[in-house]
Amino acid sequence: MNVIETISAYREWWFRHRQQTIGLVPTMGYLHQGHISLIEQARRENRQVVLSIFVNPLQFGPSEDFERYPRDMERDLALAERAGVDIVFAPSVHEMYPNPMKTTVEVKDITSRLCGASRPGHFAGVTTVVSKLFHIIQPDKAYFGQKDAQQAAVIEKMIADLNFPVQLVRCPIIREEDGLAMSSRNVYLSPEERREAAVLYESIRAVEGAFKQGEDDAARLLEIGERILHTAKLARIDYAEILSYPDLEPVTALKRGQWIYAVAVFFGNTRLIDNAILQR
Ligand SMILES: Nc1ncnc2c1ncn2[C@@H]1O[C@H](COP(=O)(O)OP(=O)(O)O)[C@@H](O)[C@H]1O
Ligand SMILES: [Mg+2]
Repeated sequence: MNVIETISAYREWWFRHRQQTIGLVPTMGYLHQGHISLIEQARRENRQVVLSIFVNPLQFGPSEDFERYPRDMERDLALAERAGVDIVFAPSVHEMYPNPMKTTVEVKDITSRLCGASRPGHFAGVTTVVSKLFHIIQPDKAYFGQKDAQQAAVIEKMIADLNFPVQLVRCPIIREEDGLAMSSRNVYLSPEERREAAVLYESIRAVEGAFKQGEDDAARLLEIGERILHTAKLARIDYAEILSYPDLEPVTALKRGQWIYAVAVFFGNTRLIDNAILQR
């Protein structure tokens, strides 16, 4: 495994390997089993696997956790090597943004709902950095987790609209034993918050269950989900919504199609997200 910190060094590597399939797994590091599952899928489908580790300042709001976002490069490199990564691309902020950016890549409409509504500018930061990573790394496939379902939808739209020669591969949500979706930010939770955080998945399961039993009224499904979220006394609900997926349009009756039940919940300053895709 090679660790590459500059764009020019990557270009040299790429020049020698460009005939081989390249799978990219973009992350912000502090790796957990969710990231590893993306790497493993990329490993199965590509000759070369590139893991990018970059905490992207552009996608953090001014009052968010960019500075204190958990980082542990040494541990990440050990986990990456064990998972079969070929190249870790770990640029500095200066390497990615040597000059103030005057160009951004933005996807409209679907970025204004759910996480986009509570984190203005977040998705523009994501699509801008992912565009840069696609141009730098030149992957054939890029692997994204369904935990960030809106992010996957936004990037898929960007790829289609701008003709990036990249195939997005969605990977299933990896969970802790009690159902909590794995996330680097889970380390922020106090033991009591961590116990209550299982409520997100309980809520997801309840909505999925009612949907599978035939409930097709969006308001009633939402009520079932919200009632469970309210049982966690430390939780502050940011949003709980049922929308069409991947278009993220409002829906009243779930007759035929595909939808998402998506939740975001604050425990203190820690914001957790989870979702389920509902299909009929
Ligand atoms: N529990 C999970 N299961 C599957 N994929 C995940 C999970 N957590 C994160 N990912 C995916 O890993 C990639 C990098 O996410 P990142 O922001 O570094 O991690 P996290 O959101 O856990 O802090 C994204 O595509 C994200 O969807
Ligand atoms: Mg994340």
